[in-house]
Amino acid sequence: DRRSHLRRRRCRAVVRVAVLVSGGGTNLQALMDAQDRGELGPARIVYVLSNRKAAYALERARVHGGIETDVLSKVMQPDPEKYDEALLQRLKAQRIDLIVLAGFLGIVGEKVLARSSGRILNIHPALIPSFCGKGFYGLHVHEAVLARGCKVTGATAHLVTAGVDEGPILLQKAVDVLPGDTPETLQRRVMEQAEWHLLPAATKMLAEEMEEA
Ligand code: GAR
Repeated sequence: DRRSHLRRRRCRAVVRVAVLVSGGGTNLQALMDAQDRGELGPARIVYVLSNRKAAYALERARVHGGIETDVLSKVMQPDPEKYDEALLQRLKAQRIDLIVLAGFLGIVGEKVLARSSGRILNIHPALIPSFCGKGFYGLHVHEAVLARGCKVTGATAHLVTAGVDEGPILLQKAVDVLPGDTPETLQRRVMEQAEWHLLPAATKMLAEEMEEA
């Protein structure tokens, strides 16, 4: 009934999520769509920060509404330590519980890592430990997969630690490489079949764990 519904709502804590972006923001879109369908559990996207002013992801957040948008670029803060500190202050001001890196190519430094250890998620467009680490981001990943002649690739949702793409793996999904694929067609298939499902699912999983803790 209504009263027990209200009681349930009162004890259900909201997990405040920051999504960090750099590009087109299709993964951010998948997260917002999942939230609107009620598929993100206690997670609420409250803050989107881009390291690029021109990132279309920012426009997606504005169109969705109810989300604070922000820019913190290398131009604004070229010193990596100061960038880390500035990001930390913003996350604190927004009372962020969970950070989701959705195609973020900026810096997540020591201070942010220390504050949010175990509460930072990343989506990588390959099956870690293949095609990951320094230099493997965006289309470069799919170019390397095709150059090696792989028949299968995929995506990985994992926790972020100090080592690039080295944190614990939460979810993975395999995707076929097809004859005639270009980096672009492969990227699109990996997004559609893997990333856009894994990232909301991992976000929900982590948010539910945090809610219980
Ligand atoms: C995604 O494919 C994501 O997996 C990748 O960048 C793209 C961002 O697209 N991330 C990395 O390569 C991180 N190493 P989006 O802006 O449309 O979500």
